[in-house]
Amino acid sequence: MTNVDLPTRDRFGSKFGVIAATAGSAIGLGNIWRFPYVLGENGGGAFLLIYLIFVLAIGIPVMMSEFIIGRSAQLNPVGAFKKLAPRKPWFLIGIMGVGAAFMILAFYAVIAGWTLEYIYQSIANGFKDKSPAELGVMFDSFREGSVRPVIWFLVFMAFTALIVSAGVKNGIEKYAKILMPILLVLLIILCIRAVTFKGAGAGLAFLFKPDFSIFSDFKAATSTILKALGQAFFSLSIGMGTLITYGSYISKKDNLATTAVTVSLADTFIAVLAGVAIFPVVFAFGINAAEGEDLVYKTLPIIFQQMSGGYIFSLMFFLLLGLAALTSTISVLEVVVAYFVEELGMVRKRATLVATLCISFLGLFAAASWGWFKNLTLFKQNVFGILDFTSANILLPLGGLFIVLFIGWYYGRKRSGQELSAEGTLKVRYLPFFIFIVKFVAPIAIALVFLNLFGVFNFN
Ligand code: TRP
Repeated sequence: MTNVDLPTRDRFGSKFGVIAATAGSAIGLGNIWRFPYVLGENGGGAFLLIYLIFVLAIGIPVMMSEFIIGRSAQLNPVGAFKKLAPRKPWFLIGIMGVGAAFMILAFYAVIAGWTLEYIYQSIANGFKDKSPAELGVMFDSFREGSVRPVIWFLVFMAFTALIVSAGVKNGIEKYAKILMPILLVLLIILCIRAVTFKGAGAGLAFLFKPDFSIFSDFKAATSTILKALGQAFFSLSIGMGTLITYGSYISKKDNLATTAVTVSLADTFIAVLAGVAIFPVVFAFGINAAEGEDLVYKTLPIIFQQMSGGYIFSLMFFLLLGLAALTSTISVLEVVVAYFVEELGMVRKRATLVATLCISFLGLFAAASWGWFKNLTLFKQNVFGILDFTSANILLPLGGLFIVLFIGWYYGRKRSGQELSAEGTLKVRYLPFFIFIVKFVAPIAIALVFLNLFGVFNFN
């Protein structure tokens, strides 16, 4: 049964709390680990430019759509669609979102767990006197050993569960308010240190000076464009119902458009800062910018141990990455917990426990994907790869596509305008533009990404 008007329904306590919590969800491994490596593989500045366009033109409208759905319905993603479109199959988007949350958390918390190992190694001075090759071996043997990745994964899941079980105001909002500003300060310190390296200029040029020669090759250009859109989706936490859930906790008086704009800009700012922290270092030490997904874990320790203050520097960096990941994992678990509480009638603590245990079970296989379960493969992908691919590349774009279609073609201009204007108290002159984007621009763009991922165009 859907419990429509829960009198005790939790709510964010302040405008800053909303922004901190939503930004906390958006800012995570996606910004600091994924953004630099994808940018590094896709031509630097040109990628950044396209990425910025997508965040503004598509990311913000999709985020607003999720907020509209969540705040109108005051429910979790499944209940929200059931309430706004009774007896229609739209609620399946919410079910897919809960499924995606399970899968995303199961692999995302594994990467977050690696951060804990590297915090530990930083404290224990484990990078000291190791050659770059030895550092690579160190990472590989850590991952293949399975015991430590599994333990760190479980520790990270426990942290996430503890915060989520405390509820929205006492848990998520309180921690996000403390963690996000700390994150920003640490990242700025990291940037200042990075740009003062000899040879840092080349890294900044790579990041900020678009090299449009990639556009001379149609295939490469299209691939870059599509990857930028995909990264925007992942980084902004859209397409899964996370921001439907958070939207349901936003006060009816808050301005959804300015919240979406603020959060998207903050998320993008952090991603760019991560780029400023990483690329000067990459270039100053002659590391390949297109190194790939192991850029952070295999490369940074090399640099940290070769510079003065590296001990504290590496500790700060991995701590920062862990904190950013934590405010993101909280938001993913919250989707499942809100669903269990409101649709299955569980109390919050029990819902958190059940969700955490189920996800942890799935995640055990992901965490040990390179060791114990390395032979457990499908289409040559290990468990981690399957979860990563299916959730991020299939479920998210599909969810995002349906969310904008829902707002554009079903929920409609009138009701969306009502919600965006906070019941007529705010001006919404951008409404026709917003509707045009969610009706046409965003669905077409997302569909292109989606088709690309199925290899329909074979851009790679
Ligand atoms: N956006 C987060 C990051 O950049 C990850 C994340 C949290 C996410 N919640 C999500 C991604 C929901 C997609 C959907 O690290």
